Amino acid sequence: MEVSTKPSLNLQHIKTFKTIVGEQFVFVDEENLYKYSHDETENLHYLPEVVIKPRTVEEISEIFKICNQYKIPVTPRGAGTGLSGGALPHLGGVLISTERMNSILNIDERNLQVTTEPGVITEVLQNEVKEKGLFYPPDPSSRGSCFIGGNVAENSGGPKAVKYGVVKDYVINLEVVLPTGEIIWTGANVLKNSTGYNLTQLITGSEGTLGIITKIVLRLIPLPMYDLLMLVPFRSLEKASEAVSAIFRAGYTPSGLELMEIDALSIVSKFVDSTAIPVTEGTAAHLIIEVDGNHLETLMQDMEAISELLNLYDCGEIYFADNATQKAELWKLRRRVAEAAKIDGYTIEEDTVVPRAELPALVNGVKELGKQFGFESVCYGHAGDGNLHIRIKKEGTENSQDDPEIIQSLRALFTLVKKLGGTLSGEHGIGLVQKSFMDIVFDKTQLQLMRGIKKVFDPNNILNAGKIFD
Ligand code: LAC
Ligand code: ZN
Repeated sequence: MEVSTKPSLNLQHIKTFKTIVGEQFVFVDEENLYKYSHDETENLHYLPEVVIKPRTVEEISEIFKICNQYKIPVTPRGAGTGLSGGALPHLGGVLISTERMNSILNIDERNLQVTTEPGVITEVLQNEVKEKGLFYPPDPSSRGSCFIGGNVAENSGGPKAVKYGVVKDYVINLEVVLPTGEIIWTGANVLKNSTGYNLTQLITGSEGTLGIITKIVLRLIPLPMYDLLMLVPFRSLEKASEAVSAIFRAGYTPSGLELMEIDALSIVSKFVDSTAIPVTEGTAAHLIIEVDGNHLETLMQDMEAISELLNLYDCGEIYFADNATQKAELWKLRRRVAEAAKIDGYTIEEDTVVPRAELPALVNGVKELGKQFGFESVCYGHAGDGNLHIRIKKEGTENSQDDPEIIQSLRALFTLVKKLGGTLSGEHGIGLVQKSFMDIVFDKTQLQLMRGIKKVFDPNNILNAGKIFD
């Protein structure tokens, strides 16, 4: 655990917080502090000193004014599904949970926009707009439990990003409470905006270090009518990775193009007790390929053409998900890999991203490094985006920070990623666990610019301090 340099909270502060939000929404009991001491990042735990669950933007503003005055560390938290430690209260202090700010405020069908509070579960938001024939595409694997506010803070992605883009491509305006207590809107509810610096995009993906997001305006698109899904086995991981960029070069843009190494499928099938996908002998990896649109015939032709192309990459017999149940089962298996692999001992997760055609070099490099540094890895993720999740297991190591050899091997991995033209994180953020690798992809000047921005927003460095960089 890190040693905190903060002045401790005192009882008077706690009393004031209770006056602001109501006694029943301020927690200092052991059980609650423990519950909010971790997210999904490795097996890391840091206890906050107090958990506060405000309901309104004004309440957050009041809390911030006190924390800013007394330099009390504040950690914002959505649903705690993050994988880089953004919601870990590693300096103790105040943890602000947005879970009570969970209303969808307005679905504007005239303009195809939705305004929501941050504590709404992403899938709930998706389903609400779907009822109106509208589509909010970004769909992290945790969409059934993560909050939209956390998605904006991390600039999350998910399988649909390959065709529809990530969260930043949908956020058009944000209400934010600054660490000093001021409440601002970052932009306007418009689809084009060249008016001054783009504060909306600066806050999006800033990992809760510049302000707490209290309202979000998202653009929506019409819901596509049909989708088709197939699962393609490959005899080699390299060939599967090579096939990915070939699909785009041939002129197709799938609405999902996911890679699962065979161990990922075996582990998750066992975990959810599913026999939906029989693991055939000699298979090293699968691609999950989805196409969507409004013309079924065209989609069928596209799938046919993609299948033919894949034969050139030594694929096995293709499995087509025929109905909604089969599709849901296949997506469930894909979505639960991270959870299953973590329980299987692959506690460390990386979120590397390279230009798409460099994916084969990356997967080969990962396996080489595993041999060199003595770790096991399982690769899966958003191959269509060149975004590879790498789960790592090493005997006796639960957390990356604990093991100098893991740190060394991760440095080697990220150096390779950088050499391939890629970067550290495609969608999980830097948070706590990747910050010591930022020097691999950014030089001093770039990091100074980021620190300068942080200082403008948070002069006393109280909000999620020590995340992204020290
Ligand atoms: C996934 C999460 C871990 O793709 O990003 O499953
Ligand atoms: Zn992912």
